[in-house]
Amino acid sequence: MKNFVCDFGFSSAKWIFGNRKGRVISVYQDRSDGETLIGEDALDNPGGVAYIRTPQHLVKYYPLFLEKCLDEAGVHDEVKVGVGLPVQFYEEQVRAKEGAIAVLGRTLLSKRVKDVLILPQGIGGIRSYLIDAGRNKAGLVLGIDIGFNTIIYTLYDPQRSKVVFTDTLYKRGISQLAANYLMPKIADFTSGLSMTPVELSRLMEQGYITVGTDRHDLIPEIRTASQEYINNILAEIMEDVKANISITRPLETIVFFGGGATHLKGKICSDTVDVIVLPQPEYANARGFLSFLEG
Ligand SMILES: Nc1ncnc2c1ncn2[C@@H]1O[C@H](COP(=O)(O)OP(=O)(O)OP(=O)(O)O)[C@@H](O)[C@H]1O
Ligand SMILES: [Mg+2]
Repeated sequence: MKNFVCDFGFSSAKWIFGNRKGRVISVYQDRSDGETLIGEDALDNPGGVAYIRTPQHLVKYYPLFLEKCLDEAGVHDEVKVGVGLPVQFYEEQVRAKEGAIAVLGRTLLSKRVKDVLILPQGIGGIRSYLIDAGRNKAGLVLGIDIGFNTIIYTLYDPQRSKVVFTDTLYKRGISQLAANYLMPKIADFTSGLSMTPVELSRLMEQGYITVGTDRHDLIPEIRTASQEYINNILAEIMEDVKANISITRPLETIVFFGGGATHLKGKICSDTVDVIVLPQPEYANARGFLSFLEG
């Protein structure tokens, strides 16, 4: 059986199959005829879309998004699937008897899906680094997954293959950057337009806004907003991390990933710690999950 990975987050589901990969935007539309449209199909259909807002929502809609990803990847045969959940939610649910892990283990099975492995987001990215460029790292690694609605940070000890400490911050990441740091800077162009956070994050990806016939470049504002945001968020995270690092085992590497990390390239440096932004950071968790599947 071939392996398939689907890492479903609050802004998109990332899939990897062989050497191909893709994203399905995390919006849906429940139609009155009982059918649910997923991703671009929902966006293209009049009637408005709904967003994924909570981890419980992720669990409920995971089967539909997984099947959509399998369709987009052109999967016809049976596959073994790896999927991710925010690490803190994952840990709470692993302990619960009828928790999300048990539920997904059943609901994700289908004509094509014959085996399911559920994995914690945040650690996937660290794994993808340690099997690749970080092969020889022995000191502590801090992984920071900057998502759309979450920031997950994980302190990992490669020598002991152990998570020292991890935390999931909700309502952080690109949604917060866009709403609190970017929006005030571009209010001249956007006042009067109603925009959802997911639309704002698309705007950030595209780097410009069209209002009527005018096109405004947003790159300078995005740069400044990202710099301000990362300074603040990093200070907050480091306060927490410091308490978990011993003087004898210093932090050696900080690895950024998650789609939000694309906005950080060249913005962070340190004399004492290696700071790395993983390539194609939005797929880093998914790449790590694939390596877990491959054993
Ligand atoms: N290649 C890219 N270029 C620019 N921005 C990107 C890219 N990929 C993703 N992003 C943006 O980065 C943000 C985070 O993307 P990511 O896919 O990591 O979020 P998510 O996993 O869906 O969210 P969460 O982790 O909170 O569940 C989104 O706002 C997305 O628009
Ligand atoms: Mg994510």
